[in-house]
This record gives sequence, C-alpha cells and structure tokens, in this order.
Amino acid sequence: MLIKAPKGTRDILPDEIHKWHYVEEKFSEICSRFGFREIRIPVFEHTELFERGVGDATDIVQKEMYTFSDKGGRSITLRPEGTAGVARSYIENGMASWPQPVKLFYNITAYRYENVQKGRYREFHQLGVELFGSTKADADVEVISLLHLFLESVGIRGLSLSLNSIGCPSCRAEYNRKLKAFVESRLNRLCEDCNNRYQRNPLRILDCKEQGCINELRDVPYLLDYICGDCAEHFEKVKEKLAAMGIPFTVDKKIVRGLDYYNRTVFEFVSKNIGSQGTVCGGGRYDGLIESVGGSPTPGIGFALGIERLLIEMDSQGIDVPLPPSPDIFIGVIGDRAGLYAENLALKLRTGGIICHKDIMERSVTAQMKYANKLNARFVVIIGDNEVESGKVELKDMSTGETRMINIDTLQDRLKKFKQVNS
Ligand code: HAM
Repeated sequence: MLIKAPKGTRDILPDEIHKWHYVEEKFSEICSRFGFREIRIPVFEHTELFERGVGDATDIVQKEMYTFSDKGGRSITLRPEGTAGVARSYIENGMASWPQPVKLFYNITAYRYENVQKGRYREFHQLGVELFGSTKADADVEVISLLHLFLESVGIRGLSLSLNSIGCPSCRAEYNRKLKAFVESRLNRLCEDCNNRYQRNPLRILDCKEQGCINELRDVPYLLDYICGDCAEHFEKVKEKLAAMGIPFTVDKKIVRGLDYYNRTVFEFVSKNIGSQGTVCGGGRYDGLIESVGGSPTPGIGFALGIERLLIEMDSQGIDVPLPPSPDIFIGVIGDRAGLYAENLALKLRTGGIICHKDIMERSVTAQMKYANKLNARFVVIIGDNEVESGKVELKDMSTGETRMINIDTLQDRLKKFKQVNS
C-alpha cells in the first residue's frame, strides 16, 4: 500500500523552495538590522510548558496539541508555537543576566491538530520574534515596525495591521465580570466549549469559531472599552508612535488572540485574499508569560507569521520571487576515458563557483542535449576522446545557438567573466 504523508503535512518541493529561501533570508536580514539574533529551540517540550504558557483553557491546549508519553513516561508535546519554548529558553539559559532587552528571532515548524483547509495545516512554519525586558511602548513599536518593514520588503501591498489592547490582569478582572453578566443569559444557546470557557476563562468565549456563538455574541462588550488608565496610556503611546512613523494600522476591538499569555497590545495582519484563514501574522505583549513558566517577572512582546499563509498572500498579489540561477554549463560526455576527464573538469569548475551539471547517465549525445535544454543550461560542451587529446572543445551558447572552439583551459575564466557581466 502506498504510504502518503500524514494529513495536514506537505512536502516543500525543489520547484518552490526558492520562495521559502527568499522570505526566510529576507526575514533574517531584516531581524539582524533591528538587532535581533536567531535562536533555535527544540521541536518538542514538556507538555506542562504549553499548559502553563499558552494556557490550559485555550483551543490549542484543549484540542490541538500532539502530546504523547515518551519511553521514559514523560508527557511530551510537539511545539504548537514558538513563544513558550523561547520563554523557557530565556529562563533556562539565564538570559535575564544578558544585556537587556534580549531580542530573538526564529524560523520553526509548529504542530497543531487542526481541521485542515487552505492556509491551515497540522505541520506549518512560523517566522517569529520575541523581545524580552522592556515594558515601554517603544518595544511594541520596534516589533511592529520590524514586521511592517519585512512585509513591505517581500513586496506585500495594501498593508494594514489591526491593533487592539486587551489590558492587564486587573482591568481584565473587571471586564470578565461584565462579560460573564452578558453571557450568563445566553449560556444555554452557546456551545458546550463556551459553557466550559465561561467557568474557566470567559475571555476565550470571544475566540469561539462556532457560528451560533458568534451570532449570540454580536453585541458583546469590548475589552478595549474597559481597560485601566495605565493600559490606555500605553495603548495611546503605541498608536501615536506608529502614526508618527507612518505605519498604517486600524484599531480592531474584536482581536483577543487565541493564546492566554497576552496582555495590553495585540496585533494581527489579516489578508482578504486567503479566505477564512486570512491571519498571516499575529502577536502581542506577554508581560506575565516568563513568570507563569517559572521565571522572574519579565516583560515581553513578539509575533509569529505563518510562512505558508505569507506565500499564499504573495502569490495572490502576483509578487515575483527571483528564480534560482540556472546551470552555467552542462558537460556532455562520449565514452569512458572522456567521462573521467569530464568529471575532473566539472569538479574544477564547481570548485571555482560555476554551477555545472555533467552527464552521469551515459545517454546518447542527442539525449544529453535535450536534457541540457530542460535544465536551461546556458552553455554546453561535449567531451569525447578528440577533445581530451586536443585540449580543445566546442562551447555552445544555448540561448543564441552560437558555437566557438576554445581551449579547455580557458573555460573556467570565460564562464566566470560571463557570470560577472550578466549578474
Ligand atoms: P498564532 O496566531 O497562533 O500566534 O500563530 C501565528 C501565525 O501562525 C498565524 O497568524 C498563522 O499565519 C500561522 N498559523 C497558525 N496556525 C496555523 C496552521 N494550523 N496552519 C498554518 N499556519 C498557521 C502564535 O503562534 C504566537 N506564538 C505568536 C506570538 C509570538 N506572539 C508573541 N510572540
């Protein structure tokens, strides 16, 4: 029986990998310009990290984690996101003693057992940043402006970030009372999950994706209207600074985010082109996270961006990503003796930085030429006994069809010069 990739996973094939490299390299370059340094964290962590970090009332922890017992009987979970792991690493590696703020970025796979559809997978990829150590609005602005510059640099048009503030635990306590009062009379019309959320973490009700619940909650009070003076002041500063920097945003009171660690600023970049899975990027402040996973109180803010969704958006905007370079030369071969000679020549060219393909199939010359054409090789030479003896070869320019006899010794220099002129 044919074994297929598990549902919700996909192979990233060579024909599309240049798009991935393009956005990954741009991201790493922009992060470096902002002084963020790369961190690599494990694919799996102790389950408790996500229960405490992401929050045990969230959909992610309740329904979507890939959790299993390892052979030592420990409960292990494939990371459903990167922030909790980076926070764990901050504590474990004593980053509190590093110069503050600590600014990190990552490029990770993540795993969530979700209903699979366009833009929503069970294994997906995130580019993200986490900034620890600053409570100031400037930190929020720095992270949001990094995201803005990155999206702009990959060519995304019509950029607008949606912004909200979900206050701090104290203003949320006050709001939770209002929310519970609103929800109470509607409880029998809300789903079972929402009834549980009502008991454990009422804010999560706003995150429900059931259409019936969404309809019932149409007139729900918004948290932004109840945040305390300090949180309101912080939010005003963030908005003022973004506006002064010309970074467009809209305030969307509906954003609550699906993870429990957030407080104050939350933001998303949503595309209209992807359909129901339009949130390309989400992030926010999480001043209580480090403490909730066992560290000393340390503020933080960050975001993560789904690479699959970003690429869907780029495709739908018709953004051209530079193609990888085609082969500089294909070396065709006739006969055994010439084969070894050609292999050495290919190695010499490759050592010198030339992209060189060589026949290793012992096909007919006609078949080799067809193959060189398919590869889109710029030049072709065919090496047989005559060429080995004379040290001369016919160099064919595949784009013009022109041929010229040259000394094999001069091949590398010619190809290098050609590359320089045409780069
Ligand atoms: P999130 O909103 O859960 O936040 O995910 C961030 C992004 O990951 C989403 O906007 C989306 O592009 C992508 N994503 C999420 N789930 C899937 C999926 N099943 N399939 C494809 N793409 C997906 C976080 O993960 C937070 N850790 C972000 C953050 C970092 N907040 C602060 N720092």
